[in-house]
Amino acid sequence: MAFSHIGILCSGGDSPGMNCAIRAVVRTALFHGIQVTGIKRGYAGLLRGEFMPMNLSSVGNIIQRGGTILQTSRSPEFMKPTFRKKAVDILKAQKIEALVVIGGDGSFNGAKLLWDEHQFPVIGIPGTIDNDISGTEYTIGFDTAVQTAIEAVDRIRDTAHSHARTFLVEVMGRNSAAIALKVGVCTGAENVLLPHEKVDHKKIVDDVQRGMARGKDSSIIIVAEGPTSGRSYEIQQILKDMYHMDTHVVILGHIQRGGSPESNDRFIASQMGNLAVEALRSDNFPSVTVVRSGKVLMAPLNECVTKADNNLVEYKTLAQTLSI
Ligand code: F6P
Repeated sequence: MAFSHIGILCSGGDSPGMNCAIRAVVRTALFHGIQVTGIKRGYAGLLRGEFMPMNLSSVGNIIQRGGTILQTSRSPEFMKPTFRKKAVDILKAQKIEALVVIGGDGSFNGAKLLWDEHQFPVIGIPGTIDNDISGTEYTIGFDTAVQTAIEAVDRIRDTAHSHARTFLVEVMGRNSAAIALKVGVCTGAENVLLPHEKVDHKKIVDDVQRGMARGKDSSIIIVAEGPTSGRSYEIQQILKDMYHMDTHVVILGHIQRGGSPESNDRFIASQMGNLAVEALRSDNFPSVTVVRSGKVLMAPLNECVTKADNNLVEYKTLAQTLSI
């Protein structure tokens, strides 16, 4: 099937590098004479008919910009079949013949339903800082988010050392431990608390005290946020009440989602955007651009619709072993 007009949207949490992927999709499509329409604010914008015609200049000077020029959203409406039917009607009315979705596993589930229920051609490009989509070793934005968190923790370490303090630094990732584990290893954190792990408060205290006994002046404990952010305050309270240990809490929050994409995110997003259009041209859909064994290639959409933990929990032991 030769496509002459495709749509593109971002869905779910934004991530640095989404703009690189948008640029690559638009430029590759236009190179092949395929018209591109940008859909603003994800599936919610699609249902409201928020369209933006894309030309070569629409994606000029965006490769270095964080966020997404198309903006994004989480759309609970899209979970309902009637709204998906409405979305397909809207796409067809615009003469859009295929859709590229940049987002996480939730966004890919929406895309899968467009295909399963209406045979509407879809391609996914994984974009989330959490690096937690099945079927791919990498999701666009992860490296930049990790780097941002590392820089923040390095700064916290400076002041922690000066004041001989212990910090609980909470990082994003929801149920994924990916950011926490990589940041933990790369900052020499004394401990990394995983999302669903039962916190061993006594061990935290013992580790900090052992470090102090051998002359350490500061301790950094990386806390994976888990289902809801703010878990660090509860841990702080228990450490205080039960062990009389004072800690400081820093929740890095959305700072990790912003900023200019690092080279890896720019490079992978550029390859993925290009490959997404080539996949449509060769009728390879529904599919997703993935990284496997370090290479960018296509995989069936079905393999990429669940959550996966792409970081081995062994990294926790690594972090702890290297910071004794
Ligand atoms: O899924 C990406 C992510 O940044 C998670 O790491 C985080 O828990 C969540 O989004 C925050 O979502 P929101 O910006 O909607 O609060």
